[in-house]
Amino acid sequence: MTKIKTVDHLASIKSYEGVKSLEIIAEELNIPIAKIIKLDGNENPYDPLPEVIATLSSLKNISHYPDTLSSNLIQGLAKKENLEVNNFIIGSGSDELIELLIRAYANPFDTILSVSPTFGMISFLSQVHGIKYVAVPQQLVKKDSFAHYFLDENQFLDVARRSKIVFIVRPNNPDGNVVSEKFIERLVSLPVLVIIDEAYIEFSNFQSLAKWVPQYENLVVLRTFSKAYGLGGLRVGYGIMPKDIRKVVLSIKQPYNVNIAGQKAAISALSSPLVDQRIIEMKKTREWFINQLRLLQIQYKNFWIHPSEACYVLLTFESPEISKNLFKHLYSKGILVRYYSSSDMINNLRISIGLQENMVKVIDEIKLFLKRGN
Ligand SMILES: Cc1ncc(COP(=O)(O)O)c(C=O)c1O
Repeated sequence: MTKIKTVDHLASIKSYEGVKSLEIIAEELNIPIAKIIKLDGNENPYDPLPEVIATLSSLKNISHYPDTLSSNLIQGLAKKENLEVNNFIIGSGSDELIELLIRAYANPFDTILSVSPTFGMISFLSQVHGIKYVAVPQQLVKKDSFAHYFLDENQFLDVARRSKIVFIVRPNNPDGNVVSEKFIERLVSLPVLVIIDEAYIEFSNFQSLAKWVPQYENLVVLRTFSKAYGLGGLRVGYGIMPKDIRKVVLSIKQPYNVNIAGQKAAISALSSPLVDQRIIEMKKTREWFINQLRLLQIQYKNFWIHPSEACYVLLTFESPEISKNLFKHLYSKGILVRYYSSSDMINNLRISIGLQENMVKVIDEIKLFLKRGN
């Protein structure tokens, strides 16, 4: 038998482990889906928007292929963002757009740059395409109850000068920090493609950089319907980019990348007044959750809270044992949070913001765990 070898750069690829579906978790834990509090994927915790349900229930013509450009959705977005239709591309999630941009703009000898820690999909997709990925490590600084990652911006700009594509997740995943506009200004003045991933911008008190796009030839902003709009399961993301870049990306995009259900659901979600109301509620819950954690931090002092501009809160613990044991404790109660196995993140747990009543349960369980002495 001849074993067929993969392309060289895929020989040691580690697959990207997505979050488990509710059905799989329910089976593993042997509890009903309704009892699971899923806070491991930064997903929207509310029931689907009524406008979306109405649209999906009245879907017709699904025997035909979808519109290749998602034209109606693009028109809605252009109007909302006050930009031109030909600044937009719709993707099967913003993940697809990350991949298309890498395929269109990175040669095998180029470098893709980001920070560490950040959204794992960027390094994964760089690796899949055999492109060198460099991450400038951020410094962890603890002060009182809080922990912050600090980026040496000058060091980053130095490496950026020698890179082809720079990804900045703003607010960053996993910590929810937002880099300054000044820093982005310095970055886009360099001859590199700057991609700002704004998957969580709706939850932040900072402005989107979408309106900067017409001023630069090298700036792309990525957004998604997976988080604030609650359409993670339908896979719809969008990119806002200069017309020239759009032309290139469209030329390599699969024609039917976004299905009819996703396109129509996203259009309905865009006009739902509930979206903003829910964002406001989630931001309130986030502040309540951080305050409760702070009270526990002051009492137990064995963890630190990362202030967050997103729909999750990252915790840094004193030791990997505490984070692992707390993860296990919460899991046994049907509460799923994000546990990291990579060496630079083993002291961390990331907890998505869920419904207020569920966050009360999370705090109660963390309290119980800390009181018991782990
Ligand atoms: C920073 C960031 N960007 C993009 C995505 C993926 O978004 P989408 O569902 O649109 O592919 C995620 C998902 O968790 C994310 O955290």
